[in-house]
Amino acid sequence: MNANPPKLDQNRDGLSLSTKQTMSSHQAASANFPFVAWLRDVAPYIHSFREKTFVIAFAGELAQEIGLENLIEDIAMLHAMGMRIVLVHGIRPQIEEQLKLRKIKSKYGKTNMSAYRITDAAALECVKEAAGELRLDIEAAFSRGLPNTPMAGSRISVISGNFITAMPFGVVDGTDFIHTGLVRKVDAESINLSLDSNKIVLLSPLGFSPTGQAFNLSYEDVAAATAAALKADKILFLTPYPPLEDDNLHPITEVSLEQLNNYVASQTNLAPGFRNLLNLAAQAIRAGVNRVHFLPANRDGALLEELFTHDGIGMMLASSNIENLREATQDDVSGILQLTMPLEEEGILAPRGQDVIERDIARFSVIEHDRVLFGCAALFPFPNNIGELACLAVDSEVQGSGDGERLLKHVEHRAKAEGITKLFVLTTRTEHWFLKRGFIRASVDDLPAERKEIYNWDRKSMVLIKNV
Ligand SMILES: CC(C)(COP(=O)(O)OP(=O)(O)OC[C@H]1O[C@@H](n2cnc3c(N)ncnc32)[C@H](O)[C@@H]1OP(=O)(O)O)[C@@H](O)C(=O)NCCC(=O)NCCS
Repeated sequence: MNANPPKLDQNRDGLSLSTKQTMSSHQAASANFPFVAWLRDVAPYIHSFREKTFVIAFAGELAQEIGLENLIEDIAMLHAMGMRIVLVHGIRPQIEEQLKLRKIKSKYGKTNMSAYRITDAAALECVKEAAGELRLDIEAAFSRGLPNTPMAGSRISVISGNFITAMPFGVVDGTDFIHTGLVRKVDAESINLSLDSNKIVLLSPLGFSPTGQAFNLSYEDVAAATAAALKADKILFLTPYPPLEDDNLHPITEVSLEQLNNYVASQTNLAPGFRNLLNLAAQAIRAGVNRVHFLPANRDGALLEELFTHDGIGMMLASSNIENLREATQDDVSGILQLTMPLEEEGILAPRGQDVIERDIARFSVIEHDRVLFGCAALFPFPNNIGELACLAVDSEVQGSGDGERLLKHVEHRAKAEGITKLFVLTTRTEHWFLKRGFIRASVDDLPAERKEIYNWDRKSMVLIKNV
């Protein structure tokens, strides 16, 4: 096991641990075995994910590049924790292999969205061969139970079947895609029955029409349509695509539906397959799936890292409206004052008059809903790539729903974009909230000289610092 315990205090779904638990388990662990503390730390995530439906979809490249073994072991563990799992696999490189073996040339036809394989009768045979082989490999991997392996005692039943009804892709711009198809309907009832009886449902990218014809589908389409039909909590895509990047070339870790739509519309050089995947993910979110995660297929343990660590390792598309988080304008001054004044009166926030907020308004970010502000935070840069997070406040009526966390992440993101590497905060009563979010205790001497000079010794605020 890795000697450095991952940061497990809160995962990206906003699920957090009580400070008492985090502190006590880490203390006990330092005297004992680190894994005891790690296991205790992930317990709340396990409780939260129990009985939730996850569609896990992986590209065929994963089986080729890093092998199935570890992925299947991780999925078996998630299943043992009580998660309802539908596993969808891709087969693109495996189809290519089959075509090569039979000396058949791959044929693609272009649509305005993407390039799709033209699946003629010979290619369909290759698709069936590739899907059959990989499906058997997956079933075999789930059946392992050797002692001294993570699969010991797992006894997992995997169910596959004709859950997907397909329709032909048809003739587009004069090109007949023949046996290439699209998902027409998902038999959610039968899948749910299988999940209810503790089975893992395994879906290949093949579907059947009511006339009994088989169609070659994309695994992304199968996963998105199945998740939508099941109203799944999550889809986790393990894909070969590199992460999306923001204007400063930082990987995008979290995105709202609106942001994603704008991004996809503005990027001309997105790989067509990735564009298609992002559009399918957006459709799934609109159909009621809570979260879609995009993870690198070639990273061993990606699923576990994404689910059980604070920042995850991929990009998450969320259904919740995070688009109302924005930079402040002069029109927001009175709203910010309404949020901060009661806290200033209680001595929780340092006093800051209207003129100061007006002067510094460009440093503020706000969360609004129906044009009403209910959260704010400010970022002040100092020399040597240090920044101060100040004025973090969330309306008491909506506290506890993750807005504080979202503001913090936003400020961290903004700090990174401005080249800030260290963020500090001064607080009198919110120490534990920040400790749980990766800040550590520091002293007044650690502040930049300019900030130290105006430190208010009467307030005796605690100094907390985080690398961003
Ligand atoms: C701190 C604050 C911004 C958090 O906002 P929020 O939207 O409630 O934050 P989140 O939803 O992400 O987090 C809520 C969690 O933090 C915990 N929390 C709230 N205030 C806390 C505090 N002072 N100390 C420790 N934990 C706290 C809540 O109990 C909740 O825990 P749970 O998930 O286990 O139930 C908000 O409580 C606030 O405005 N406080 C007053 C102003 C303040 O102290 N600002 C910081 C000084 S700069």
